[in-house]
Amino acid sequence: MTPATLTSRPGGALMGRVRAPGDKSVSHRALILGALASGETRIDGLLEGADVLATADAMRRFGARVERLGEGRWRVEGQGALHEPADVIDCGNSGTGVRLIMGAAAGYDLAATFTGDSSLRKRPMGRVLAPLEQMGARHLSRHGGRLPLTLRGGGLKRISYRLPVASAQVKSAVLLAGLNAEGGVEVIEPEATRDHTERMLAAFGAEVRTGALETARLIRLEGGQRLVGTQVPVPGDPSSAAFPLVAALIVPGSEVTVERVLLNPLRIGLFETLREMGAELEIGNLREEGGEPVGDVTARHSRLRGVDVPEARAPAMIDEYPILAAAAAFAEGRTVMRGIGELRVKESDRIALMAQGLEACGVMVEEEPEGMIVTGGPVRGGAAVETHGDHRVAMSHLVLGLAAEAKISVDEPEMIATSFPGFVGLMRGLGADVGE
Ligand code: S3P
Repeated sequence: MTPATLTSRPGGALMGRVRAPGDKSVSHRALILGALASGETRIDGLLEGADVLATADAMRRFGARVERLGEGRWRVEGQGALHEPADVIDCGNSGTGVRLIMGAAAGYDLAATFTGDSSLRKRPMGRVLAPLEQMGARHLSRHGGRLPLTLRGGGLKRISYRLPVASAQVKSAVLLAGLNAEGGVEVIEPEATRDHTERMLAAFGAEVRTGALETARLIRLEGGQRLVGTQVPVPGDPSSAAFPLVAALIVPGSEVTVERVLLNPLRIGLFETLREMGAELEIGNLREEGGEPVGDVTARHSRLRGVDVPEARAPAMIDEYPILAAAAAFAEGRTVMRGIGELRVKESDRIALMAQGLEACGVMVEEEPEGMIVTGGPVRGGAAVETHGDHRVAMSHLVLGLAAEAKISVDEPEMIATSFPGFVGLMRGLGADVGE
């Protein structure tokens, strides 16, 4: 049974080599594209966290055969189409899952009802529903485009869609719908976001054209393209690797290597920022796997200094601001994080919760409508932090507690399993004191 709280305590140096769990973004996409494709897809290294397991279950309900062959090894037998599910699709805590699946489902003549947990039911879906409606899909939702909602797909027409928010989820939903839109789709991204959907569509045999406009990125996909099952190796998640790596940076005497981390240029904003802060971060064994760059990342305890994080870097590290805020608490001076209003509509309002949690631990934080500024100094700790069920808020505070003056506890620790099921065991293996 999972305890009601989880606690981290300051202790000795962290040492060792570990493997991060599979990348969450790549894992969702592998299952969804595998279900849309004809024939067999073999996935190796799938993240077996609650979010991705909900997507696996959803794909079964849309008619694909999805089987677990062994640890991280999965087989998807796609039908070359999605079929109408008999019952409600529950995507749990996962915004990526529900938004990508709605995009994929919109391309077919079917009705599907989607829901999720209490956090997901509060998150905005209008950003995906707007372009899908412009293409010809219909929906009926709770007030404000919230879940539960029913989507009716089929008969989609071409659109050229300029993303109003920098969101890989919205881009991906439009591209997946575009596979079955007459005339295909065109997406214009003012700021480049993670491109795993584009890369993986190509790996499944689709032609995706990308180009640069003066101040934006353009992605074009022809309609009516058929996907063919393939092999998908899933690299380690840089968003999860961030927790043991930052722990090593802030706990004196530490040296930790995380192997086989996805190093897609649109995902490594945190590593760039930490280096600017003076972090000793080394990348070794850089190679390409399954169309993505991967490498082993080593972090050594470092003296950090505060920086201004460039706003343009936000999409490349959007999930990493909570752990960056924890690192910033140990840096000399101020770390300024702005242009991150999107953080308020993640699994929780991450600006508000990080500010509250850090303040409870004795850290100086200035909260802004679309940003936060953390001033480093001694971290008192000795607090019980409310996470509102947000896995990254929980892990960030547990890392903070390893270098604070006194222990830090978090509530709802079971939610960590949405993205990082082996977090506690992995951290303990490195020598961290994390437990009840
Ligand atoms: C994701 C995109 C990001 C990110 C999320 C995963 C994806 O969300 O926060 O964890 O896999 O496409 P947005 O597209 O809402 O920025």
